[in-house]
Amino acid sequence: MKIIPRKSLQGRLRVPGDKSISHRAAMIAALARGRSLLSNFSTSADCASTLDCLRALGVSVERDGTTVVIEGRGGDLSAPSSALDCGNSGTTMRLLAGILAGQTFSATLTGDESLSRRPMRRIIEPLELMGAKLSSQEGHAPLTVNGQRPLRAIDYEPPVASAQVKSCVLLAGLQAAGCTRIRERVHTRDHTERMLRWFGVPVEEREEGGVRLIALHGPKRFSARDISIPGDISSATFFLAAATLLPGSELVIEEVGLNRTRASVIGFLQKLGADIQIERARVECNEEIGDLRVRGVERLKPTANGANIISGALAAELIDELPALAVVGTRVAGGLEIRDAAELRVKESDRIRTTVENLRAMGAEVEERPDGLRVAGPARLRAAHLESYGDHRIAMAFAVAALTADDASELSGAASVAVSFPEFFDLLEAVSE
Ligand code: S3P
Repeated sequence: MKIIPRKSLQGRLRVPGDKSISHRAAMIAALARGRSLLSNFSTSADCASTLDCLRALGVSVERDGTTVVIEGRGGDLSAPSSALDCGNSGTTMRLLAGILAGQTFSATLTGDESLSRRPMRRIIEPLELMGAKLSSQEGHAPLTVNGQRPLRAIDYEPPVASAQVKSCVLLAGLQAAGCTRIRERVHTRDHTERMLRWFGVPVEEREEGGVRLIALHGPKRFSARDISIPGDISSATFFLAAATLLPGSELVIEEVGLNRTRASVIGFLQKLGADIQIERARVECNEEIGDLRVRGVERLKPTANGANIISGALAAELIDELPALAVVGTRVAGGLEIRDAAELRVKESDRIRTTVENLRAMGAEVEERPDGLRVAGPARLRAAHLESYGDHRIAMAFAVAALTADDASELSGAASVAVSFPEFFDLLEAVSE
């Protein structure tokens, strides 16, 4: 796909429903008793994979655009007649494994080539501690889960900061006898905790010596409830980045999820000198939501010492936003450094490598590190032949970079945006000047 540079972004838009929240809404509604109506459900291919897997497990799922009606099975799913295809979606595979661990049958989860390369031991270990039996290809999919009922509750500290691992254990915990507890040193996104509470399941949370304890008592049955899903802040990030980098832009992104464990990108961009305002902030269905008004700026200059370093807990909070932020970093006085983000290497692509390759193709000065990168700035990016590497967020981050380049760029594999944001290029066209 050819991407031509633009002067500015103008107008208003809505991004699709949050992918992380949509997966959880569908899975938890499937376990509830009765009918739940989910509005503004994500249009992503990943969330469609979750719905297809749930159908294969005997759940009635009706979909009309972004409205999904789920008839919950009250905790008891049916054995699927064939393998459950999770496509490109790590969240589908890891969270569903937690649900399957407590069922009375065995099921196999498969995925595409990229998902089959991603690490699964991080969920196999806790689920086996809970009493389920799992087999894999040396820690990779296909993953067969032999359910056990009831599971044993565990007190578990995941060795990696991962909301998917935490959520997998909590969903298994719904089907375990006793108190399942997760210990988190780095707070990861808390949509599962909030969604469970929305469905009436008590989830306790407290801090103890810098560790966050999250606990629920099982086994737990609960009733259906309707839910409305906010716009996806990770998708909105590409528009925040593009509008910031194109001076003269003024864009309003409506109804975006602003959950504290997801919205660090706003504060981080503001510290680099971006002009972003939150309007109409409110809480809906246990999640913060609001509109974001972003205006382009002539230059980005960190407002404090160290504001252009992403490390520690911030790196975990910004994990999905890092490719787009690396692109922004090329325009920041003093550049941008990303540390403590080795997890990027096991995402849909090795996002350190794929970000560095594309930045270099555009003439940026970048240093690749085992756990991150350092990009020099401010510099103007050159038009280039860009590669998505089949990774939706790499495709969108470099579409943004191409908008700011000196001439037209070519992006290969642009269709991969459908994994999280099929409307991306149409919306971009609609607001570009
Ligand atoms: C997600 C958690 C994160 C994130 C992914 C979605 C979730 O993954 O990168 O896009 O919905 O829980 P990890 O849990 O592997 O960090």
